[in-house]
Amino acid sequence: MRLTVIGTGYLGAVHAACMADLGHEVLGVDIDAEKIAALGEGRVPFYEPGLQEVLGRAVDSGRLRFTTSLDEAADFGDVHFVCVNTPQRRDSPAADLRAVDAVIEGLAPRLHRRCLIVGKSTVPVGTTARLGTRVGELAREGADVEVAWNPEFLREGFAVQDTLRPERLVVGVQSARADRTLREVYAPLLRIGVPYISAGPATAELVKVAANSFLATKISFINAMAEVCDAAGADVTTLADALGYDTRIGRRFLRAGLGFGGGCLPKDIRAFTARAEELGVGGAVSFLHQIDAINTRQRQRTVDIARDMAGGGFEGRRIAVLGATFKPDSDDVRDSPALAVAAAIHGEGADVRLHDPRGLDNARAVLPVLDYVPDVAKACEGADLVLHLTEWTDYRRIDPAELAVVTRTRRILDARNALDPALWTSAGWTLRAL
Ligand code: UGA
Repeated sequence: MRLTVIGTGYLGAVHAACMADLGHEVLGVDIDAEKIAALGEGRVPFYEPGLQEVLGRAVDSGRLRFTTSLDEAADFGDVHFVCVNTPQRRDSPAADLRAVDAVIEGLAPRLHRRCLIVGKSTVPVGTTARLGTRVGELAREGADVEVAWNPEFLREGFAVQDTLRPERLVVGVQSARADRTLREVYAPLLRIGVPYISAGPATAELVKVAANSFLATKISFINAMAEVCDAAGADVTTLADALGYDTRIGRRFLRAGLGFGGGCLPKDIRAFTARAEELGVGGAVSFLHQIDAINTRQRQRTVDIARDMAGGGFEGRRIAVLGATFKPDSDDVRDSPALAVAAAIHGEGADVRLHDPRGLDNARAVLPVLDYVPDVAKACEGADLVLHLTEWTDYRRIDPAELAVVTRTRRILDARNALDPALWTSAGWTLRAL
């Protein structure tokens, strides 16, 4: 099939490369000419394990091309995937849909035959219906265009695997024809047994925000338990392990620590509450305000414990920060808890030296005031305290005895509960976890 993927950021670049890998003819479209040039040469402009190989293979095969032209896209595609970002609005918790709207306003008047527009971005429930009406107003004579929604569940760091072997496909369609088209797009995945759930657009839109809300709730739940454990002298890691044996609860997303960040979970739960309020059912999801508050509280708790470990204040203290990205195996620092903590202690007068295996450039771009160091030992040189804020495997491999040679004191706060306390304490370190 001939597919276009409009918006070649994180989601779109992965989707375009993977759809070409499945055998489709794919045209990636973006307004950013620089990004399009890089992708056209088979270069991934961000860090995502495994994507480089799939993209390179797809470009070399001739099945994947890139353009900045919506005219070309309109001529080419039987199916147009919309993969632009829907960040939080600056002035409210709601989602900013300007990029999605701009794609529809640009694409719809150019369409001149039968095709399907499929949104993949996370949007407030009701968006597909609204865009369907708008496409009807903008479409040319002879065009036969439907709008469907097919939310994306991929995780950064596992994006290729999540796209080529997803746990499920969810499509929101208004006609049997749109459903058939999407089954054809995903035929190679249906053949390997990936569950396919076909629903109305509103349900599909809601599945996505419900899933992210549930994941956020699990994380904040265990973080709330962690605080109680601290007060009661109990151990949240053992508690989570014991809970995890109950298959109704499951053990994933029960890792207590600094909490969730990134470009999805935080903004999605806020946009969801805003949309629910518009629908008059804000009360039904008001608990999500609490989930958000518990999450933010983890950042403050981390700063408070760090201050305590630094001797009551950060003024004149050198603090080594390990980790800037919102999670390991990503270079993404959007709404990163690690960076928020680093910024807060810098604001209280600390001399912060920050290390991250992949996120230094992005971190420097949003927070230029910190000292960015591409080497763990250098970042920790003369440190009064080490903060472990993102659980990269590299940090678990650190030899505490070797690190002790460069730091001023042996104090570490493991805000991700990922280091081995016995290993660190036996090397003479004072280790605190969340
Ligand atoms: C999340 C969802 O997991 C994806 O299914 C979804 O497609 C994506 O958002 C999206 O909406 O686009 P992602 O943001 O890549 O994916 O990251 P996650 O792996 O979900 O981690 C989110 C945050 O939760 C990270 O900051 C992570 O450190 C934190 N986390 C995760 C915990 O603090 N504890 C846990 O036990 C698990």
